[in-house]
Amino acid sequence: MKIAVVGATGLVGRKIIELLIERNFPITKLLCVASERSVGKKIKFKNQEVEVIGLEAAIAKKPDIALFSAGGETSLKFAERFAKNGTYVVDNSSAWRMDKGKKLVVPEINASDLTKEDLIIANPNCSTIQLVLALSALHKTYNIKRLVISTYQSVTGSGISAINQLNDEENGADVRKKYAHQIYRNCLPHCDDFTENGYTKEEMKLVNETKKILNAPEIEITATAVRVPVVGGHSESVNVEFENDFELDNLVELLAATPGVTVQDDLNNNLYPMPITARGKDDTFVGRIRRDFSRPNCLNLWIVSDNLRKGAATNAVQIAEYVSQHFINN
Ligand code: A2P
Repeated sequence: MKIAVVGATGLVGRKIIELLIERNFPITKLLCVASERSVGKKIKFKNQEVEVIGLEAAIAKKPDIALFSAGGETSLKFAERFAKNGTYVVDNSSAWRMDKGKKLVVPEINASDLTKEDLIIANPNCSTIQLVLALSALHKTYNIKRLVISTYQSVTGSGISAINQLNDEENGADVRKKYAHQIYRNCLPHCDDFTENGYTKEEMKLVNETKKILNAPEIEITATAVRVPVVGGHSESVNVEFENDFELDNLVELLAATPGVTVQDDLNNNLYPMPITARGKDDTFVGRIRRDFSRPNCLNLWIVSDNLRKGAATNAVQIAEYVSQHFINN
């Protein structure tokens, strides 16, 4: 299969290439695509060096699947042109996520909604993927009424320039600034741009994408997204209110039985999810599972996942695997 990675020089693009190799994706040709600045650069793929090409050249080569991770503008401008050639586009940006005609997919939850005609498929926001993965089975059994989410998001969610800023600040070098303020030894209640309602785009992604993936517009959701000086792995403190009362043991069993979720909750041994232990893994880790004693039918959870893997590259490659198995040469 001919696969294009658009944004191949970026953090997520590189992780996608790593995962394609790791998961033995059946590739006959890999196209590494980035901006004109990077054309001609070499990217390592197995024992080859693949030369970076531009978008026009990649469209002309009509790949079977293009995995996009080069920002919303690039996706808006080019995804449809790939799709016109019959290329399946798996898009990591926010460009198509809330488009009514596009599916927003976390494979463990809703890949089976995809049809052969879905040529542009949206990959959700990193913090949304780990959230819905943990909540989907709980919602099916107990009906979620309301969610209060606080995130603790690592700098890798903002690309290479954010890692550069953190490293520069730590090393006392001339700071290449990605964020509005220092991130080293700091927390910024500011992920992505602010919107007119006072929330950030990241917070509104959590609200809107969660409703779309769980097919539950009725859930009331509020979120605060915070950038923390962690290099890999997003954490989330989530307060869940259910319509119905729940059995805590049953709820833990549901979580443990969810594909892609690992429960880490052993207080006697100080076992709970942390970004440092989630890093490099594909699962979403859930712990600190406890009743919220201040309200009936409420629960507190702590959810952690590697934002570059399940939050971005792993989820995108899983979608590509589904597409290749169900729609290509079928
Ligand atoms: P480039 O390296 O040529 O700028 P990150 O978010 O980690 O910084 O990565 C962003 C990725 O998106 C990079 O691969 C970057 O390529 C790519 N990219 C950014 N803007 C464009 C564009 N206009 N056309 C194609 N690729 C782009």
